[in-house]
Amino acid sequence: MVCSIDPVLQTYGYTCKQDVLDDSIEYWNPDKTQFWIDDGIDLVMGERHGYTFSDVDGHELIDVHLNGGTFNLGHRNPEVIAALSDALESVDIGNHHFPAPGRAALAKKLIELTPGAMSKVVFGSGGGEVVDVAIKSARYATGKRKIVSIEKAFHGHTGLAINTGDERFLKMFNCDEPDEFIHVPFNDLSAMEAALADDDVAAVIMETIPATYGFPMPNPGYLSAVKDLCTAHGALYIADEVQTGLGRTRDLWCLQHHDVEPDILVTSKGLSGGIYPISAVILNEKAAGWLSEDGFAHMSTFGGSELGCKVALKVLEITMRAETRQHVAELEEFFKKRFAAIQEEYPDTLLDVRQDGTIAGLVFAGEDAAVRVSKMLYDRGVWAIFATLDKSVLQFKAGILMPLEQANVVMDTIREVTGILDAQRRMAVA
Ligand SMILES: Cc1ncc(COP(=O)(O)O)c(C=O)c1O
Repeated sequence: MVCSIDPVLQTYGYTCKQDVLDDSIEYWNPDKTQFWIDDGIDLVMGERHGYTFSDVDGHELIDVHLNGGTFNLGHRNPEVIAALSDALESVDIGNHHFPAPGRAALAKKLIELTPGAMSKVVFGSGGGEVVDVAIKSARYATGKRKIVSIEKAFHGHTGLAINTGDERFLKMFNCDEPDEFIHVPFNDLSAMEAALADDDVAAVIMETIPATYGFPMPNPGYLSAVKDLCTAHGALYIADEVQTGLGRTRDLWCLQHHDVEPDILVTSKGLSGGIYPISAVILNEKAAGWLSEDGFAHMSTFGGSELGCKVALKVLEITMRAETRQHVAELEEFFKKRFAAIQEEYPDTLLDVRQDGTIAGLVFAGEDAAVRVSKMLYDRGVWAIFATLDKSVLQFKAGILMPLEQANVVMDTIREVTGILDAQRRMAVA
């Protein structure tokens, strides 16, 4: 039986979405596959371009999830694809033991674009991997072991990164090492000061706006005060800009308008252009010390592959163009106005909007409200995901090249869904 003619299905020899779901349950990830089926979002991504993609059964969606910013420049951005095709004419992944023009050029560019006296770049292929490198670098530099992160942080699920995150993901793998990884509440400077008081902390790792926790905004001066505490207590400041970076707010890195010069900065997701995996950790002189002692101390066969470097250089070029920066400013203003209008119309349903640039956390009334909002938007052709660690918050992550007409459609849909939710809430109260 032929159920769909989607070319993505056909590429892998499937003719039916149900077969993909069945095989995913049997051979891939039963719990995750079933979770989405139970939620009514039995999505299998098919054709995609720009800021839209279709389920293989044809349901078209505008993407304001973007897999955390991986598709910040859109799905299958033609310029990024051209950069990869061009690179494929002459190089492949390359050999990570040798210097390569792509790695040298990308490292130089990232240092040029990052505030602070940055010195070296180590490449990886994913976010968690470079968070691990950041932690190892800080431990080497300081000779200390403890790492401080915020409660409900998310910095990835690799060996060290997972310890900085929520206990939900730690206990099942026996990963919790409470003595070495300390979690403090976000925006609580006294708790941060207490955690650093004994001068035995190697690093504090902070996402500039914690995405998976629903984008709570840092209080004015909070991040720079954390940096000052780090300096006073001999700890390094690691900025995780995996979701907040790459031009999604007013600057390339979100922390640039929080007056923080990090010791270490981590980037991934969007650096790949959604086309070829690559990640990077940018280190200042102190944090980079180990690279002069033993350059083989961290190995990553695919980290900084020559193909990935070419793609990342193109991503940075597109992101830094004057017209792109101008467009982000326009999108920011547009979203701000539309969010304010919806909030004014439904103040008891859309409780708060935490926005910076093209990213926002939309706080809805009700503990799990954003799970329902996500499904209602999905049914109406918009894909946005709830915040995993605070399900009252919908993560809104529009791409930096999104045309205003498409942004308008998204906002109309959010308004419609908020109105329906508001009516349902009133009926429940009555
Ligand atoms: C802020 C942040 N840091 C790190 C990571 C880890 O990235 P990866 O999944 O590529 O390991 C993520 C992933 O969502 C993230 O959101």
